[in-house]
Amino acid sequence: MSLSEPTQLIVALDFPKPNAALEFVDEMKGLPLVFKVGLELFMSGGPDLVRELVHRKQRVFLDLKMYDIPNQVAKAAQQLAFLHVEMMTLHIAGGSVMVKQVAKELSEIPNLRPKILGVTVLTSFDDTHWAEVTKSLTGHPARPGDSVSGMIAAASDWGLDGVVCSAKELSYVRKNFPSLYTVVPGIRPQGSDQNDQARVVTPAEAHQLGAHAVVVGRPITASSQPRKSAEAILKDLC
Ligand code: C5P
Repeated sequence: MSLSEPTQLIVALDFPKPNAALEFVDEMKGLPLVFKVGLELFMSGGPDLVRELVHRKQRVFLDLKMYDIPNQVAKAAQQLAFLHVEMMTLHIAGGSVMVKQVAKELSEIPNLRPKILGVTVLTSFDDTHWAEVTKSLTGHPARPGDSVSGMIAAASDWGLDGVVCSAKELSYVRKNFPSLYTVVPGIRPQGSDQNDQARVVTPAEAHQLGAHAVVVGRPITASSQPRKSAEAILKDLC
């Protein structure tokens, strides 16, 4: 299910310090990007860094993968919306009450409402480790792929706007839940270093498979010519 519009490029700002992130962002000035702030950078730069990015007219995806009691996550989501971020993440494993409470809280501030993206099984889980977790929870070991599709199917009407999924699950999501926005990490341009990503697709493949957005980190941030690398990837996403 290929998209008629370009796939959005989200650049993961995986820098330890805010200054390095801001310098990098300035280098990308004028490109149609969204910048993802994850736990590490948020712990060092905090809300002030997000405010500074927004002040510099940048679009921000705050990827904190929240999971707590429903009231805490809903109130945290409200604070995050006040920062004018465009997308946020929470764990689908937090359950329907948590996800629905976040959706309700954010529906009360429609002008600031970020996209709510659900996270399923982290790709750092291998089959053995996930079997161990699911067996301890339910008495039965599950395979990561089955849990991912089960979680997305269950959560599809909880008020999520989309999901973070690997290229492996993308076709399943696009076919069965076409209204969900799909954000896909694990992207590598042809011939580039895979780093620690076990299974990767190229930007063009992700676009062909219908990804609404891709997350790319090191192929851009660790490149000797980051702006050129970003421009090359943008070309492949149209
Ligand atoms: O492109 P690179 O591997 O450097 O990107 C890493 C980014 O993608 C990190 O910010 C990480 O949080 C995110 N990510 C991932 N795999 C997932 C989900 C998110 O690599 N399954």
